[in-house]
Amino acid sequence: MNIKTIILAAGKGTRMRSERPKILHEIANKPLLKHVYDMSRQLENNSIKIVYGHGAELVRETLSDLDAVWIEQKQQLGTGHAVQQVADYISDTDNVLILYGDVPLLKLSSVKQLISNVNEHSLALLTVNLENPAGYGRIVRNADGQVIRIVEEKDANDQEKLIKEVNTGIMAIPGDKLKKWLGQLNNSNAQGEYYLTDVIEMAVADGVTIVTSQPDTADEVLGVNNRMQLSHLERVYQQQQAARLMEQGVTLRDPARFDLRGEIERLGQDIEIDINVILEGKNSIGSNVKIGANTHIKNSTIGDNVEILDLCIIENAVIGNGSRIGPYARLRPESVLAEDVHIGNFVEIKKSSVAMGSKINHLSYIGDTTVGSKVNIGAGTITCNYDGVNKFRTVIGDGAFIGSDTQLIAPVTIGKNATIGAGSTITKDSPDNQLTLSRARQTTVDGWQRPIKHECKDAGVTTSGMKEVEQRKEQLPRTMSGTIVEEK
Ligand code: UD1
Ligand code: CA
Repeated sequence: MNIKTIILAAGKGTRMRSERPKILHEIANKPLLKHVYDMSRQLENNSIKIVYGHGAELVRETLSDLDAVWIEQKQQLGTGHAVQQVADYISDTDNVLILYGDVPLLKLSSVKQLISNVNEHSLALLTVNLENPAGYGRIVRNADGQVIRIVEEKDANDQEKLIKEVNTGIMAIPGDKLKKWLGQLNNSNAQGEYYLTDVIEMAVADGVTIVTSQPDTADEVLGVNNRMQLSHLERVYQQQQAARLMEQGVTLRDPARFDLRGEIERLGQDIEIDINVILEGKNSIGSNVKIGANTHIKNSTIGDNVEILDLCIIENAVIGNGSRIGPYARLRPESVLAEDVHIGNFVEIKKSSVAMGSKINHLSYIGDTTVGSKVNIGAGTITCNYDGVNKFRTVIGDGAFIGSDTQLIAPVTIGKNATIGAGSTITKDSPDNQLTLSRARQTTVDGWQRPIKHECKDAGVTTSGMKEVEQRKEQLPRTMSGTIVEEK
């Protein structure tokens, strides 16, 4: 069976109150239309046509990589008019599947069931029963329970408005018949639009049976018309993903406070995720991994036995097996950590590799750096990688020990097993195995006295007070008035 899927996506979406075309608004960082496209791509023998219109350029540009035929509907004169634009692409033997670009959570299983009901003698229609059917087209059935037509809300009488079974808009129609019916549509109705729903009555007149099926839940067929509905479907989608992950063996401390905006390419066993974690883009997570609360991880690879503590931001990074990150750590793009690396609180790493067993535990910035194995970087170490114009690299050899509060002015190389004394500003390469430091020598000033506070009148200093200050200054040792203590 050949399927032609037509995704209707030309509408404006006025109620979104947005510059952006509605179908480009996102659920889990993916445009609404892309959700529909990805689902329909999974159907066999299927080719996809997308009817677009509002925000045409931006839509084409944003979704240029979709494998679909794009058909522009310059004026949006109704759902029937939209499908008319595709008529030339429909073969008589096709079965045409109509989907909406703003109904993002429709499941493949519901579509497959729908399609199984279409053939040359029957039209398949997806309907749903709603407690509050307002706004939807109502499914009108005869005394035998056969569908005979769909009436739009605005054209419905009071009796018809009571009907709770509504049209989802999703249907599958035999190609030859659809083409014939499209040619017969008119716009003499309350909205002056060409309604696709009018084909139902034509089908019945031609002896075609209308076969209905229903989705598992109404959320599947809910459309996005405003931001409330968008946020509702985002939550529904996130809960579905959370449920799937838990089925696969992930512990989520609270599935309602978890967001997956993308894919997990490799999912290990016994992963524990605390609350408010966001996983974005393409991530891989190994086994026995713990991710702490309020952590955001994007496009990263996390090895086995990794512990990520609370409040970390990790992007385009690789974290080796057995490493421990955070709390409050930031791994920026191209941070590559080997096994058993410790990155502690308030540490920022950028475009750097850190080899096995190295520790950067407190308050440091390591950028454009190659850190060897078993290196210990003390608190407050900064790689000064930028001179305002260019970036330079720092290389730190295996086994080096960098004392706290050190600045490494790149380009610079610290030798293997080198020790850098705390508080140093290192501008030159430092040799292997030796202690290097640059530090003002400590002195103690004999006889120095703390200044005394003087009484001030009227916010000014009295003349006698000023005099006393001057006298005191005279008595100060020279070292306190600017002389530099010589460094050895
Ligand atoms: C339509 C149905 C209604 C159904 C409801 C379900 C018709 C006449 N009515 O009503 O029975 O209950 O959907 O949500 O079909 N579109 C175009 N070009 C157009 C008009 C619409 O591409 O000229 C697209 C929209 O972008 C949207 C879809 O078609 O994706 C539905 O359009 P919309 O205006 O939302 O239809 P409703 O009036 O809600
Ligand atoms: Ca709608």
